[in-house]
Amino acid sequence: MAAPRENFSSRIGFILAAAGSAVGIGNLVGFPVNAAKNGGGAFLIMYALFVFLICLPVMIAEMAVGRKTAKEPVGAYKALSQGSSFWGAAGFLGVLTPFMIAVFYMVLTVWIFGYIALTVGGQLDYLASGAGFGEFINSPYLFVAMMVVAGIVNFILVAGVKDGIEKAAKILMPSLLIMLMVMVVFVLTLDNAFAGIEFFLVPDISKITPSVVNGALSQAFFSLSLGMGILITYGSYINRQTDIPNSAKLVAITDTAVAFIAGLMILPAVFSFNPNVNPSELSDSSVSLIFTFLPKIFLALQSSIGYVGASAVATFFFVLVFFAAITSLVSIIEVPVSYLVTEKKQSRKKALFYLSFTAGVLTLFATTSFGMVSFFTEFTSYAGSSKSFFDVIYDVFYDTILPLNGFLLCVFVSYRWKKKQLSEELSVGNESYAGSWVEKYINFSLGTFIPVIVLLIFINTVAIKFF
Ligand code: PHE
Repeated sequence: MAAPRENFSSRIGFILAAAGSAVGIGNLVGFPVNAAKNGGGAFLIMYALFVFLICLPVMIAEMAVGRKTAKEPVGAYKALSQGSSFWGAAGFLGVLTPFMIAVFYMVLTVWIFGYIALTVGGQLDYLASGAGFGEFINSPYLFVAMMVVAGIVNFILVAGVKDGIEKAAKILMPSLLIMLMVMVVFVLTLDNAFAGIEFFLVPDISKITPSVVNGALSQAFFSLSLGMGILITYGSYINRQTDIPNSAKLVAITDTAVAFIAGLMILPAVFSFNPNVNPSELSDSSVSLIFTFLPKIFLALQSSIGYVGASAVATFFFVLVFFAAITSLVSIIEVPVSYLVTEKKQSRKKALFYLSFTAGVLTLFATTSFGMVSFFTEFTSYAGSSKSFFDVIYDVFYDTILPLNGFLLCVFVSYRWKKKQLSEELSVGNESYAGSWVEKYINFSLGTFIPVIVLLIFINTVAIKFF
């Protein structure tokens, strides 16, 4: 007999867990640079509109599907479509996607952990030297870091929903918010900090091109952890008193606020390091920003606070990012765990064992695809360039399948499960929902322009990435 399905113990526990999933590396480093480079305040306004007008309805729908069925994506899609195998397959995509993204995210989290170990060990100058990163990502120590990170994630997940995921979020999320504030206050005391703030906030409409618009929407979608089955799964753990529309709103606000505040941390730091920094020099990818550029900035602090002080600031920063990454990683892996437990009737422990093993092997492939093993480094090639195993996972699952999953969800909810049922589910725990303009907006948008827009993003990404 399977154990009864666990629930989050409180609404706040659920909100913190969902916000823990949403707040991740993307918020802390991806967003600030993206926003600053692509129009500052103009980007921020556009991003906020995307979050609330396009992403929030999708988030609410995911949570409703989860709570209604008390199942993960495969079970949920099947249950609401009377066992349709097409929708079962769509649900399966919603389990496979987080599993593969977990592999990609795990690699980054392992690197962050490695950076914590190295800064604590007095190696900040090595990380700041141009060669540090390249050497580091090919060093055997990574395997030790991988074991530690996998150990932490398993430790949290094996304890279950209430005592694992929720408890971890209740500790890590408030710590993260406090650390973020401390960093912002510290960074604002640096010389030229305000030049960074100005660069972040002053709107420049001329930068808003179609590709920036596309990028902003993808960033918002990904940042809110949509299209990955996560919110369906977390939604399956909430009780029927929880008000979904308002809980989702709080998650979206927290996620967006953290991204915004992260901008107040990163850009002043960048500008105090080099007041004449040319925006185009700001690295394109968050990966090089976090792993090569930021260590240089931290090292530069040694002239005012000494090497140990600079190393301490760097460690503090990487621990902050690590906390954000762990709560995200836990949420992605919970989706396949929940699938094996609910659909395949495995115990949580066994499910975690199987997943750790397979994800571990794939992570190993991805980790060694930066030069260590040439088969994975030169895995394949498309769009005229050679791609590593890591690149393939990123391009296929992260960039491409995510919007496709979003599209399928909108179509499913509007045309298969039907709006009436969605409304009914969302009215549970929120008496004023039925008949409100929020209800009208959600039903209308999910059945019309949201799926069209996400489908266009999907098509555009396929065209750009693979041809
Ligand atoms: N939303 C997280 C971020 O912004 C990332 C994430 C990815 C979370 C995958 C869950 C799953 O970094």
